[in-house]
This record gives sequence, structure tokens and C-alpha cells, in this order.
Amino acid sequence: MSINKFLSLNKAVFEQIKLPNDAVVADLGCRDAGFLVGLQHAFPDKIYQAIGVDITDKWFKDVKYKSPIILKKMDCSKKLEFEDNTFDFIFSADMFECVSDKKLLVSEIHRILKPGGVVICVNCDWDSVVYNGEDKELISKAIHAYAVTKQPWMDDLDSWIGRRMYGFFNKCKLFESSVCVHNVVETEYKEGTFGYDLSLDIAWLYKENTGALTKREYDEFIEVLKSAQNDRSYIFSKPYYIYKGKKRV
Ligand SMILES: C[S@@+](CC[C@H](N)C(=O)[O-])C[C@H]1O[C@@H](n2cnc3c(N)ncnc32)[C@H](O)[C@@H]1O
Repeated sequence: MSINKFLSLNKAVFEQIKLPNDAVVADLGCRDAGFLVGLQHAFPDKIYQAIGVDITDKWFKDVKYKSPIILKKMDCSKKLEFEDNTFDFIFSADMFECVSDKKLLVSEIHRILKPGGVVICVNCDWDSVVYNGEDKELISKAIHAYAVTKQPWMDDLDSWIGRRMYGFFNKCKLFESSVCVHNVVETEYKEGTFGYDLSLDIAWLYKENTGALTKREYDEFIEVLKSAQNDRSYIFSKPYYIYKGKKRV
């Protein structure tokens, strides 16, 4: 059975959203548009247009989307290709850390939101991710190395991006700001979960010869997680900071 690992996170986000009728919405850094598809299900008949943008279109074919969702290639580190006052709601998840000029992105989001429009930015605080397992030192090393090692496709990287989001928006005084945290907690190490998928991603540290983790350490790390699963002590937890800002009129 396939599992949707985003279910609990999306539910926590949807609880924060109130859409007007005929809402025009955007997802910045939408990847495969999974969030917009979920939003359409959660708010049937409310959405007039939903635009997902991403710097690459390589994932656009991975999800079944239909009107009113449209997807576009766009680089969110530059001036956004939208008119002023276009959107009622803007969403972005785990994209902010990839963009170096965060001040520009915040002011661009403000520009393209309608007065009173709402932005929600969801970001994992990568340095606060937790796995349980016997070898504390190795687990901490693998998580930290992954959190602080910049991948080639990223413009920027901040392992504390989750806790920093509030400040990026609140400092500019353009939004009424609030923040909460949703912790995703998993107790099984199996395919399709955040914890399993992250453990596979961590392999890039040795595959790309970053020097941050050796192949031997990586293999041991995976064995530690499998042992925790076998003796029923496996836990993975990932804190998502949910920033909400309402455009000041
Ligand atoms: C970690 S993924 C998150 C994807 C999706 N929001 C989610 O939560 O599943 C980061 C996404 O941001 C996109 N991205 C990175 N830099 C970007 C940029 N400058 N402009 C637009 N998208 C960007 C990546 O291509 C990727 O799809």
C-alpha cells in the first residue's frame, strides 16, 4: 500500500487556511504540485486558479493535476513573473532555504499578494531532525552533515531555516505574522516515509565525495536504523515551522 507521508503536515497547514470564493493561489517551489492537488481536494469549488511554479519542470509529470491547476517553470530567486496584487493565498514549502536573497523573495511575495492576502511558508528545521537508534554519535553526525552540506542545485542553505522564517517575514513589517510548529512523527522505518526517504538522500554525502560522511559510516547508519526498527524502538521526527503572514493593507 502506498502511503502519503504529507497527510498529517498538509492537514496541519489546511487548518490554517481560509480561502475566499474564486481564490487565486500559488505554490512557489511546487515540485510535483502534490500540495495544490491536496488543496483542491480540501477546498472543493473554492479555487478559481492555482499556479505552481518551480525552477525545474522535471517533476511536473509525476502527479495527476488538472484545471484549475497550471504549472510553470520559474526562478523564485528573481523578480516573480506575476502582476502586483494577483494572489489571495501563496504557499511555499522547503524552498526558501534554496534562495540566497530572501529579502527580495519576501518583498516579491508581498507585491503579488492581494491586500489582506495570506502567505504560508512551511520549512523543516533540518538541524532539529531526530532519529532514535543505538549509536547516538553516528546518527547526530549523519543528520548534522546532511543539514549543513549544500547540494549543487541549491543557491543557499541554512540548516536553521525553520526557526528563521518568522524573522525573515516579521522584520520587514509588511505582514501580520504568526508561527506554529507541526512535528511529523514516524515509528516505522519503511519505504515512503519521511525518515526512510531522508536516510536514502543522506547517501549523497558519500556518493558525491563531500567528505562529510564516509560510505562505511553511511552503511553503519542504515544498519543502526534497521536495528531500531527490528527491536521496535525506531522513531523519526521532523519539525515543520509553519509561518503565516497576512499582507498589511
Ligand atoms: C525540497 S523541494 C520541496 C518541494 C515541495 N515544495 C514539497 O514540499 O514537496 C524544493 C523545491 O524547490 C525548488 N526550487 C529550488 N530553488 C528554486 C528557485 N530558485 N525557484 C523555484 N523553485 C526552486 C526545487 O526544484 C524543488 O522542487
